[in-house]
Amino acid sequence: MKSKTKEVSYQQLPAAPDSKRPCNTRLIQSFSKCTPLKVIAVVVLTALSTCLIIYSCLDKRLIERLCCTHNPVVQTADEPETMTSKYGNIPDSDDFRPRHRYRDNDNIRYKHTKRRLPQCIIIGVRKGGTRALLNFVNLHPAIQIANKETHFFDDDDNYSMGYEWYRRKMPYSFPQQITIEKTPAYFVEESVPERVHKMNSSIKLILIMRDPTERAISDYTQIHMTKLSKGKQHESFEELAINEDTGEVRTTYRAIRRSIYHRHLERWLQYFPLSQFLILSSEALVRDPVSQLKIVENFLGIEHKITPANFYYNRTKGYFCLRNETHEKCLAESKGRPHPNVSPEVVKKLQDYFRPHNYKFYRMVDKDFGWP
Ligand code: A3P
Repeated sequence: MKSKTKEVSYQQLPAAPDSKRPCNTRLIQSFSKCTPLKVIAVVVLTALSTCLIIYSCLDKRLIERLCCTHNPVVQTADEPETMTSKYGNIPDSDDFRPRHRYRDNDNIRYKHTKRRLPQCIIIGVRKGGTRALLNFVNLHPAIQIANKETHFFDDDDNYSMGYEWYRRKMPYSFPQQITIEKTPAYFVEESVPERVHKMNSSIKLILIMRDPTERAISDYTQIHMTKLSKGKQHESFEELAINEDTGEVRTTYRAIRRSIYHRHLERWLQYFPLSQFLILSSEALVRDPVSQLKIVENFLGIEHKITPANFYYNRTKGYFCLRNETHEKCLAESKGRPHPNVSPEVVKKLQDYFRPHNYKFYRMVDKDFGWP
């Protein structure tokens, strides 16, 4: 039986106003012109845009944890050479660093980077300018720093977590870069030299030393300010540093003990030769940071990249601060703050007390720091 349906091609359909045309007429038309290549292109583009939408909706941290623990997020693939040429292009709202650098809370990491144990540690001294030194060396493209003090070697709980815990506290770095951390407590804690030696007997160690009297007063100021901010009472420096009855220096006061440098260094020298240390002067860093950073660059065997153009002198603060073409940044307010007034007699007493200890230290390191 013959079908009653009359076959007509769509071209034969009577013309109708656009709004009334069968809705898929145009579609049929365009599909009829489709080539396999076009179909593949459409499929690929759709898949890509779906992936992009999903990716931008997910929390980046979650992505890193889910799929990138071993081969993590690649934001860009700058190689160190490119980084060097970008060096100096900075601004950054909360931290003064070149844009190319990895920031812990960015969840950004570059291809070919991984976290590595430090090849260099700033071990002290507390209040010697360790933060300034760390932030300044961080300008160098061959250096990556751990921003927070890790307290791995001096804290038994942290140490018991093992090297892998420690490594995870380190920043991502390229193979050619040097990882540096600073924890000034390392210098004075007895267990530390042996532990550091056990991890890496050829590690480079940096010390930045300050006039021991000034250092002790600065040490006191830090604790004093913390106590005041918590609404707690705190004795005066004089009360803590000088025995009221005898008028002698209280050698048990921790701020005093930490300033007897030769005692602490002696312990380190049982494990490391002096050649593995770089011993800088805090006063020199305050006066002329670039000259001290050049010494650090030499010690680490890296090119001289940090120049006077990276600094300006801030008269209000009374210290050098960082600068680039668009941005200026000083250290936090807690660095370089005024000290409480300490009576000149007490200052003199401390200087007299520290002098023989200083000479011992000068002999040990073969360098006179010229402290009063
Ligand atoms: P004060 O705040 O007592 O003056 P650390 O970082 O080891 O805690 O040391 C703090 C000290 O760094 C400060 O002590 C200050 O003297 C010194 N310092 C060195 N260079 C500095 C800089 N450019 N800006 C601020 N403080 C600096």
